[in-house]
Amino acid sequence: MKFFVDTADVDAIRELNDLGMVDGVTTNPSLILKSGRDILEVTKEICSFVKGPVSAEVVALEASEMIAEGRKLAAIAPNIAVKVPLTWDGLKTCKVLSSEGFMVNVTLCFSANQALIAAKAGATFISPFIGRLDDINLDGLDLIGDIRTIYDNYDFKTQILAASIRSANHVKDCALIGADVITAPPAVIKSLASHVLTDKGLEQFLKDWAKTGQKIL
Ligand code: G3P
Repeated sequence: MKFFVDTADVDAIRELNDLGMVDGVTTNPSLILKSGRDILEVTKEICSFVKGPVSAEVVALEASEMIAEGRKLAAIAPNIAVKVPLTWDGLKTCKVLSSEGFMVNVTLCFSANQALIAAKAGATFISPFIGRLDDINLDGLDLIGDIRTIYDNYDFKTQILAASIRSANHVKDCALIGADVITAPPAVIKSLASHVLTDKGLEQFLKDWAKTGQKIL
């Protein structure tokens, strides 16, 4: 399973990238706002050191404008995936841009039928938001499972990019169910390394080591 990092915070991306944890990056208008940076400038900087797909989202609502925005974003770097919302105009944009050879990430997916139609429109990635479904007492993971089954039934090549990941359990569940990619905030990716028994075990080892009076260096 690939790890994308869901942020426009360049320092946080660099830290994870140096560890080989970054297979790609996703951004959205809210994350650009949070970064306080200009979208073109920050996206270009991210693409200067991240080798995998970097999603940058259009903000127009009508297809011809979305296509124009998508082409402008795609011109930033060859590894840009143009992110479009799962609307009818977004699907038209997806079809045009994917036919031109650009990667397209169709976002704000909340149903299996939306994922099916995005695959038909040539999406490179489909982004189901699992946390936001959990927020309204639906099961985000069920959606990932349904999309996996549908895509496998018909051999769709669209990659399932599980988004709105809020916890380490979300990451594990997505890996078990067969998501191709997860995109998660840096803190969630870092939390995968944590376990209370690791902390406890290390504390005991260090106490015992101190009693030996030895040094390694
Ligand atoms: O990738 C989509 C993600 O940024 C949304 O996450 O936590 O705002 O639902 P969240």
